[in-house]
Amino acid sequence: MAMKIPFFNQKKQEESFHYSEESTPEHIAIIMDGNGRWAQKRGKPRVAGHKEGLSAVVKIVKAAAKCKVKILTLYTFSTENWKRPKSEIDFILRLPKEFLHFYLPDIISNNVRIKAIGNMEELPENTREAIQYAIDSTKDNDGLQLNIALNYGSRQEIVIGMKEMFADIRDSKLSLDKVDEQQFSGYLYTAGMTSPDLLIRTGGEKRLSNFLLWQMAYTEFLFTDVLWPDFSEKEFIHALEEYRHRKRRYGGI
Ligand code: IPE
Ligand code: IPE
Ligand code: MG
Repeated sequence: MAMKIPFFNQKKQEESFHYSEESTPEHIAIIMDGNGRWAQKRGKPRVAGHKEGLSAVVKIVKAAAKCKVKILTLYTFSTENWKRPKSEIDFILRLPKEFLHFYLPDIISNNVRIKAIGNMEELPENTREAIQYAIDSTKDNDGLQLNIALNYGSRQEIVIGMKEMFADIRDSKLSLDKVDEQQFSGYLYTAGMTSPDLLIRTGGEKRLSNFLLWQMAYTEFLFTDVLWPDFSEKEFIHALEEYRHRKRRYGGI
């Protein structure tokens, strides 16, 4: 990263920032898609798009904190993304460490709490260590919770959760009669978190790509053609405004 972008307290942006907290989604999940196409459109290698995508992450984390969103879950790398060329995978998996190297002090001082969801065991050691360090250093913060979904796949999460639950039943730690939706949710990476209220997917595709399948049973979806590196605070506020007009019925009338 050539230059650090101011994370919080960016005066110019603060002045133009008008948003009412009324009906703000408590939990927002984002599929940050379109980095590769952003780069290709500019004749650059795909990884340039991933790098530029990091700047959008900084802007959106800042915007979410200001809007008093409680949880922001960012889809960073899926269990299916291992199908990509090794050079691209290596680049993407280095980004969390780079991001945290530059921004962890700002994150700590702005009361953001970092969590990770996904299969951490398969990640390169230095990526895992950087994330664990960020989790440990922010564990007492009670502002925005930033969930980094890294090597995350919903089907894998459900299978791992089921196996753990079955093991607890086998070891008599849990009775089969006690198993219900709430119990099972406790075996997922998102245990104890509220479900996403709003999903934003950038990049034009209209699919979930194995993201939070169980958790998004009643989530409001918003798809935009804007490519992730171009996704701005303005777009984010626009998504929140759109969410406000949705009528959530949960099967009722
Ligand atoms: C999303 O951008 C980032 C990751 C999946 C890691 P892509 O890399 O999928 O960008 P497109 O969809 O090819 O443009
Ligand atoms: C979803 O994007 C995963 C992330 C944004 C991390 P993909 O680009 O991998 O999704 P598909 O392949 O288009 O479904
Ligand atoms: Mg994509």
